Formats: sequence, structure tokens, C-alpha cells
Amino acid sequence: MTPINAVTTLSIEDGIAVVTLNSPPVNALSVGVRDGLALAFGQLLGQADVKAIVLICEGKTFIAGADIGNLGKGGPQGANLLDCLKAIEGASQPVVSAIHGTALGGGFEVALACHYRVAVPSAKCGLPEIKLGLLAGAGGTQRLPRIVGAERALELMLSGEHVPSKACLEMGLLDALVEEGQLRQGAIAFARQLVADNRPVKKVRDLDDKLKAARANPQFFADFRKANVKKFRGFDAPEANIRCVEAAVNLPFDEGMAVERKLFLELLAGTQCAAQRYAFFAERAVWKIPDVPADTPVLPWENVGILGAGTMGGGIAMNFLNKGIPVTLVETKQEALDRGIATIRKNYDNTAKKGRMTQADVDRRMGLLTGSLAIEALASSDLVIEAVFEEMSVKKAVFKQLDAIAKPGAILATNTSRLDVNEIAAATTRPESVIGLHFFSPANVMRLLEVVRGDKSSGAVIATSMQMARKIGKIAALVGVCPGFVGNRMLAQRQREAQALMLEGARVQDIDRVLFDFGFPMGPFAMSDLAGLDLGWTRESSTGLTLRDKLCERDRRGQKTSAGYYDYDAQRKATPSPVVEQLIAELAAQKGIVQRAVSDEEILQRCIYPMINEGAKILEEGKAIRASDIDIVWINGYGWPVYRGGPMFYGDTVGLAHVVETLQRFEAKLGADFKPAKLLVQLAATGQKFQDPNSIKSN
Ligand code: 3HC
Ligand code: NAI
Repeated sequence: MTPINAVTTLSIEDGIAVVTLNSPPVNALSVGVRDGLALAFGQLLGQADVKAIVLICEGKTFIAGADIGNLGKGGPQGANLLDCLKAIEGASQPVVSAIHGTALGGGFEVALACHYRVAVPSAKCGLPEIKLGLLAGAGGTQRLPRIVGAERALELMLSGEHVPSKACLEMGLLDALVEEGQLRQGAIAFARQLVADNRPVKKVRDLDDKLKAARANPQFFADFRKANVKKFRGFDAPEANIRCVEAAVNLPFDEGMAVERKLFLELLAGTQCAAQRYAFFAERAVWKIPDVPADTPVLPWENVGILGAGTMGGGIAMNFLNKGIPVTLVETKQEALDRGIATIRKNYDNTAKKGRMTQADVDRRMGLLTGSLAIEALASSDLVIEAVFEEMSVKKAVFKQLDAIAKPGAILATNTSRLDVNEIAAATTRPESVIGLHFFSPANVMRLLEVVRGDKSSGAVIATSMQMARKIGKIAALVGVCPGFVGNRMLAQRQREAQALMLEGARVQDIDRVLFDFGFPMGPFAMSDLAGLDLGWTRESSTGLTLRDKLCERDRRGQKTSAGYYDYDAQRKATPSPVVEQLIAELAAQKGIVQRAVSDEEILQRCIYPMINEGAKILEEGKAIRASDIDIVWINGYGWPVYRGGPMFYGDTVGLAHVVETLQRFEAKLGADFKPAKLLVQLAATGQKFQDPNSIKSN
């Protein structure tokens, strides 16, 4: 075995050369890997005694793509990837890529430039660049459609799906599967057979057959765009990906490559791609807790107890049942328990009806669920999650009872969305075992989990909670105890301003439109109508002084009563309501507010900048570990558009000095709600960003 450079080795046995890359953790296409490829193939090409070449990787995976951290950063360039791929594809000997783990993005593009591809059954391949706001920039957009056709290529590129080996084989993306654990031997044997059979080099760039269908259908791309308008709203990368496939269909290979290059560089230079690359690393950073290191021992847990079978308890239970973890669900009344269990069953039945689950899957899940009316049924639970009414006295009583019956070491978690976790923990004799697990509704669907660390929550309880979140497929952000934690605390800022703007004269539909156009799935008023205006509202306690009171009193409770902030028709299509406009005008007059025209820019800044400011306060108070954790909360829990990176990243994008100046302008006009946080002022003054590695520590 000859070393080529620090990450590449070459061996030649009986005319078969094996180029091996070893660049942990994922063999990304760093300078070293590209140089290694260029040097190794440079040496091999034209070497008459080398009959075939195998490209393989050490470690847990084949090349997982470009080095995302260095994409677009300039600096030491090393060998050019496109030149490497040209050399590989131009080789006179057959080149076989041998894939295990994941061949993704640039990694899969390397494989597509090889003449043959083999993989173990557990491997996956794909072009996930779309998730980084990009397109495959090393020929992937031109080669993939030549193998699978334009329609399939669009599906794969626009979903970024990691496709299992078997499906790749069926689509022609792989030439053969080799036995698990025997990749090297299997690939060498495959290469040897190619030589024995005198098989030609097979260049993907020369294929054309699969492109003919799209070429024959002039409407093909227009139809695809039309069918996906909603899905791609706001994102730049989908259209660029489509244009590349269009180029693959309509232009010669090299011209298609030029289109790909141009669009790739445009996307790479854009804010959306920067935001999505930031989100990629934010998703990985969020699990790292400075004072709870990765090697903190976790507590053993095999079963879960849940108190309360209402909206949240049922949804939370489904997360565990889906993963084969037994759940005991406790209620106070038989009918509430029956209703809760029936809802879970109905949800699973609906999934089965849509063909996304078999009846056996439903039965298996329901078989793991036990209902009880006695809290003692939770005596052997390793993890208990309380999801009873949101009232401190009720929570305290429940935790006192739990303390009496739960086994030593069990984790006692509350799903409260705003109550003080420390106060709840103090109702027990073991506050170190108590933690907040704030699921979002619908709890079986929403990806976010705020793990709320009490003052006394132990490291083991925190580590186990994070591990549990991963196991059930959530993304968990560790947050501290404060009203509303991170997400709802910041949401309260936006809600306050939306209400204030409405009274000042901005129309409900304009506020919603501005936030929808910004990229949220819906605006705050449409959201309230969907959730129901009467959540927590009663006729007896209504003051009649707020718009919400006035609307609920008129039975305008949201979509469910076909009227709320908007009027709804039978198809739930919203139209602005003259009644609501009148009520708003009256309320404004009562409060002495003179209504005025409000610009879209003011709506956006008033709704978003106070959130950034609140995020800064959260960081100052140490209630979130890093700014990117806050962004993770907003992207995964509140529909913040990932292409804007989250509120803190957005603050960095528009400039913190500009955010501070704008807040100060509003403060002068509207009062202390807009006073910029100390951290924000300091960062702005020193020209730093939230995402700078030391921005929080140094302030
Ligand atoms: N570049 C740089 N670092 C990467 C990376 C990449 N392409 N892929 C993964 N990493 C890092 C992660 O940040 C993480 O670092 P950390 O341990 O310091 O946090 C480490 O590798 C391990 O990654 P994961 O924790 O994600 O490990 P998993 O085993 O869960 O997943 C994976 C492995 C499926 C490869 C996943 O990391 C992944 O999806 N990576 C990104 C793949 C991708 O998007 N490739 C396309 C890149 S763009 C491109 O290729 C452009 C080209 O067309 C020119
Ligand atoms: P819910 O009213 O739908 O369900 C609460 C259930 O708890 C009821 O079925 C009730 O019978 C039961 N219950 C009451 N006391 C009990 C006791 N002592 N033992 C066992 N069961 C008892 O309420 P929901 O919406 O499920 O909320 C539950 C908790 O989750 C609250 O703390 C809430 O703040 C929190 N939460 C709610 C969210 C939502 O969107 N609904 C989102 C995130 C958190």
C-alpha cells in the first residue's frame, strides 16, 4: 500500500488498483481528499499494467459530499473537483466506485463520474444539496437524469432523499450489490470480472435514452413547476435545480455543465444557502452541552408513563409507541382515558387507511399501550411525562403524588408550556430527577422538543432526556427556566406587536400577508383562527375589553365556528371580515388610538426585531446555550423559514447595528418594549454577529 498523501493510499494487485480515501468523520471532499484523488488518478491513468481501478473509502462512509464548512469560503483550494471527475471519467481503464455508508452530494457525483458503481446493501446514495439551498455542482444534475430520466431526477434532487442501495440498483444508479462487510473484496472481484469480460468504460455523460421522454413533452417542466408551487414557496434552490435538469434534457453535456456551474455559484453566493448551511451545523451543535459532556452516563429507560390523555398526552404517547417503547397512560376518569386511547387508535387507523402503515403496525403499537386510572401504575416507569392541566396547583399535587410512588432514579418530566419547572420540582423530594420536556402540538408530528433544565436537574437526567429525544426522532434544544422558555417567550413579542399594529391601523390581512411572504406557513391571525380563539377563554371571565374577548363573545372562535379574525366559507377559505374591521376601529377609538396607514416594512420590523431582542436577552440570561439553539427552536417549532436561518441568524443578516437603531427608533416612539438588550447593543457596537464563535462569551 503506497501513501499518496495524508488521506489517500494506493495499492495495485494483479492489475487492479485500489485508491482508498480515509478522511474522518465522513470523507468530505476537503482539499486533502481532492488532492489525493487528483494525485492517485494522475498516477494511474495511462498505466498499461493497471487494468481497472477501484475507488473506496475507510471509516463509516463513502464520500458524504463537499466539505460544507468550507464551501464558498475561498482559502486553500487544492485540486479542482471538476478536473478530478473529468480525469476519472476520461480514464481508459474501467473505474469502479465501492460504496458503503452514504454517497451524498459531491460524493455521489464522484461515484457518477466513475464507470461502474457497486455498494453494500446498507448503503445509501443521493444528492441532498437542496437541503443546503444548493444544487449538485459537480455534474450531478447532468449525470443523474441521464441514468434515471428527468422525472426521477427531479424527484431525487428536489427531495434530497438518501436512496437505499436496492432502489438505486433498480434505477440503474448502481451496477451491483456486494455482500455486507465484503465491499473491498466484492468490488475488486467486480472489477476483475469487467476486465475478464473486456467490458468497455461506460461514461454516463454519453447516455441519452432516458432523457427522451422529457424532451418529447414540451409541457413537462412547466407542469412540474406548477404542481410544486406551494412546496417550493420562498426557496431559490428548487428553480435552479429544475433549470439544470432542463439543461440536461435540452443541451449537450458540456453546455449543461456550464449551466450547472453558473447556477451553483449563484446559489452558493446567496443568503439562503448561507442560512441553510448554518442550519446544518446548528442541528448538530444543539446536542452539545458544555457541562454535560457526550460521555455523561445515561439512565437506563425502557418504558414510559404519561399522565393525562388529552391533546398532548396522547400525541406524546404516540412518539414512544412508534419506536416500540411501552407506554402506560394514566387519567383520572374512565371516559377521558377511553377518549384518549380512542384518539390514538383513530390516528393510527387513519395512517393505515392512507397506506402508510399496515394493520399489523397499528396492532403492534396499540399492544404496547396500557391505560390506567391509578397513578400507582407508574411505579415501575423509568420516565414519567406529566401532561395534565396547565395549573400550578394541579401540577404540584401530581408531582407530590409521583414522588411518593415513582421508583428511585425515575425521570419525572413535565410538559408545561410556561410554568416554573423549579417550583414543580420543589414539590418533590428529588428535584434532581425533575425536568421539563416541552413537546409541541401535534406532539407526534412536530420535530421540536424544548428540554427545560431546572436549577437542580442532574446531568444524567439532562443527558438521558437528550438521548431520548434523539431516539424518538426529535430535535432537542436545552433551555432554561423562564416564562415561555425560549420559543413561546419570543413568540409573545411577535403576538404583542401584531395586536398593537392591528389597533394602530394595519389590517389583519396585511399583517398576515407580510409574515406569510417572509416565509412563515401562516400569519399570526390565521394561526389564531386555526388554533381557536377560545383556548383558555370563558364567557364568565371575559372582560369584553380585548378584541379576542369581543370575538369570542360573538361566537367568532376561529375556523371551527367559520368566523374569527376572518370569515370562512365551507372550504375554509378566509376572507377579511367587515365585522372585525368595525370592532377593531371601535376598540382603537376606545383606547384613544388614532389609526394610520402602516407600511409593510414597519409590520415586519415591529414583529421580528423584538423577537431578536428577546433572543439576545435569553442569551444574556443564559437560558439558551447558543444563538443557533434559538434558531433551531424557531425553525423546528414555529415554521421559521429555514432559508432565513432563524431569528438570530436573520438579525446577523440584516445587521445588528441596523436592528439596534430600528429598535431605538421604535423605543422613542412606542416605549420600553423596544429597549435594545445589552448584549445586542454590545455586539452591534463591536461589529460582531450572534453566530461569531465567541460573541456570547466575550460579552
Ligand atoms: N462537510 C463537513 N462536515 C460534515 C459533512 C460535510 N459534508 N457531513 C457531515 N459532517 C460532519 C458533521 O458536522 C459532524 O461533525 P461533528 O461531529 O463535529 O458535529 C460529523 O461530520 C458527523 O456527522 P453527523 O453527526 O451528521 O453523522 P451521521 O452519521 O448522523 O450522518 C451523514 C452522516 C449522513 C453523512 C450526514 O452528516 C450528512 O447528511 N451530511 C451532509 C451530506 C451532504 O449534504 N452532502 C452534500 C454536501 S454539498 C456538496 O456536496 C456540493 C457538491 O455538489 C459540489
Ligand atoms: P388537555 O386538557 O387536552 O388534557 C389534559 C388531560 O389531563 C385531561 O384529559 C385531564 O383529564 C387530564 N388530567 C387532569 N388532571 C389529571 C391527573 N391528576 N392525572 C391524570 N390526568 C389528569 O390539555 P393539553 O392541551 O393536552 O395540555 C396538557 C399540558 O401540556 C399542559 O401543561 C399544557 O400547557 C401543555 N402543552 C400544551 C400544548 C398544546 O398545544 N395543547 C403545547 C405544549 C404544552
